[in-house]
Amino acid sequence: MSADKLPAALLEQATAPYRPLGKFAWHFARGKLGGDPAFTGLLQRGLIPPRARLLDIGCGQGLLAALLGSLDGHSGAERSWPAPWAAAPAGVQVHGIELMPRDVERAQKALDHLGPRARFTQGDMRTTDFGPADVAVILDVLHYVDYAAQADVLRRVKAALAPQGTLLLRVGDAAAGLPFKISNWVDAVVTFVRGHRLARLYCRPLSEWQQLLRDLGFAVEPIPMHAGTPFANVLLVARLPGSAAP
Ligand SMILES: C[S@@+](CC[C@H](N)C(=O)[O-])C[C@H]1O[C@@H](n2cnc3c(N)ncnc32)[C@H](O)[C@@H]1O
Repeated sequence: MSADKLPAALLEQATAPYRPLGKFAWHFARGKLGGDPAFTGLLQRGLIPPRARLLDIGCGQGLLAALLGSLDGHSGAERSWPAPWAAAPAGVQVHGIELMPRDVERAQKALDHLGPRARFTQGDMRTTDFGPADVAVILDVLHYVDYAAQADVLRRVKAALAPQGTLLLRVGDAAAGLPFKISNWVDAVVTFVRGHRLARLYCRPLSEWQQLLRDLGFAVEPIPMHAGTPFANVLLVARLPGSAAP
């Protein structure tokens, strides 16, 4: 087994709740959790502390909550946990915010068994209250809103975070040439299929994303997060002063 892949037992456990919802929800969950390096990267590097209050902005059908929810007390997953990875973060409580009602409905139905460890709010990140959080995760979402709205969401995320909180923000690097063009093209197709009707995407070069976060007072560490894909995605680990690097 590759240490860069989600162990099969864990993938099975995390995606099983979507099976009763139909083929689309289940296959989508398996494809995304099994193939997107962001999910493995977060676990592998220990970027989510145990028992954290996690805000997942633009959470889709709640895959991160499903993955984290499957870590609690599941012996199969524990046995197959890759040795080089950081310890599994147990007891994380996820609040997901998502614009599309169909995704929210799927998340709520699939993860009802997790109780208060996974709750979902249907709403626009530009106006929905974030509530308090230790970790905020925004994976491939901010470029759907205009530049001023992006800055405002990030300012509100900073205000929502605990003093030692962390923002995990994945963005495309608009300066990355062909891989960025491929990312954008795939994104446009997928968002159209998912029911969005967006006139344009609001992308920035990586340096500009980093500066935006630094101006807000975050210390920023970029981690390439596109291994095994043709994309130009980077995970920005943005820490407030005083937070300990894992
Ligand atoms: C590319 S998907 C990423 C989903 C999830 N973060 C992941 O990595 O699997 C982007 C998500 O952001 C949601 N989204 C877009 N604009 C939003 C907004 N203004 N407020 C909340 N969610 C939004 C979309 O509906 C979609 O579910």
